[in-house]
Amino acid sequence: MAAALTTGLEHVLPLGSRLNARGALEVGGCDVTELARELGTPAYVYSEDDIRARARAYREAFAARTERFEIVYASKAAPITAVYRLMADEGLSCDVASGGELHLALAGGFSPDRLYLHGNNKTEAELGFAVQRGVGTIVVDSFDEVDRLQRLAPGQRVMLRVTPGIKPETHEKIATGQEDSKFGFGLDDVPRAIEACTDAGLELCGLHAHIGSQIYELSVFERLAEVIGGMGDYPLLNLGGGLGIAYTAEDHPPSVNDYADALLTRVPEGVTVLCEPGRSLVGNAGVTIYTVGTVKRIPGVRTYVAVDGGMSDNLRPMLYAARYEAEIADRFGGGDLCTVAGMHCESGDILIRDTELDDPRPGDVLVVPATGAYGHAMANNYNAIPRPPVILCREGEARVVVRRETYDDLTLRDA
Ligand code: LLP
Repeated sequence: MAAALTTGLEHVLPLGSRLNARGALEVGGCDVTELARELGTPAYVYSEDDIRARARAYREAFAARTERFEIVYASKAAPITAVYRLMADEGLSCDVASGGELHLALAGGFSPDRLYLHGNNKTEAELGFAVQRGVGTIVVDSFDEVDRLQRLAPGQRVMLRVTPGIKPETHEKIATGQEDSKFGFGLDDVPRAIEACTDAGLELCGLHAHIGSQIYELSVFERLAEVIGGMGDYPLLNLGGGLGIAYTAEDHPPSVNDYADALLTRVPEGVTVLCEPGRSLVGNAGVTIYTVGTVKRIPGVRTYVAVDGGMSDNLRPMLYAARYEAEIADRFGGGDLCTVAGMHCESGDILIRDTELDDPRPGDVLVVPATGAYGHAMANNYNAIPRPPVILCREGEARVVVRRETYDDLTLRDA
């Protein structure tokens, strides 16, 4: 019989995760050590029910407070056809930030009118593709883009991206709301931008702002709603994404209910509020499983536990100094201080500096929780390492929804 987790990581792991009778982690009812044996490592393992539950929690939180809302999945967090399909099925709309994400969203079954196209420098080809496929709303980011849309998409429904001058507390690389930003129109430029849209014959239906990502402070969202809500009479306001998640046992982000309160309390009556969560829909739904290959003990210095992946499947530690937890998948707990290293030819390829593991040995399966957002999304082929598969688990059944890359894939584009 499966035992409940008592590891302090319940809020970091996918909902419904358990340690089974062997002490091994189960995600979506699947023993991850068995998945490792059958499907290999590294691999991104998601609980399908977790993703669905979070999509529903967003809808329910907003529905309990207003009739006028739309939850838009920011698909850059996990641009996976099967995940788009789940989100469409759960009644969400979708934010796509490129022609490629648009292609995936359509492949995942999103109706084009539920799509919002973003980007600070959408190419003509991307805009043409969006218009040809009937994308519902294009979020206009610059004066140059207004000119392009006038030519390519007369009459297109658009929103205007505003940079509201709000700087949240988060890593500077993922703060976007401050005046000094490559995104959107600064507050002073908004009146001129509105005029430009009208002159270009575009159908301006509202304003958009996204102030940044992995944010715990709710007051900045309240301020955002107040600033954007006070900018004129628009039927729609899209207040972006950004709600933070728990990566480590000590992290305790605000609830979706409290986030909904923060967004909605200051918004004028009658306005439809859109929000665009990415990380908080999929981040905790996924874990990465690796196999330990070598354990290098440097007495008095450090123990390096090297796994069969690293910065190619999870760039976040290197890019943002992001902290993660790790456990041996069938021996949670333990007190051996270790550093989990990747397999890439760079000293900086460290997944977790200083974490405690239970006597790690070659052949162990190591699990890193909370990799469901911006893991697969930012995976790369550094050192020509093939990218991992994506596996969706539900009620003990595992489905490979993106297969592992092969060496042949690496030469496939040779021209
Ligand atoms: N809407 C817009 C316009 C965005 O640019 C983003 C994220 C979101 C929504 C979703 O934000 P979220 O709810 O996921 O915080 N690679 C970074 C994150 C970059 C986020 C970029 N934009 C990371 O791994 O932390």
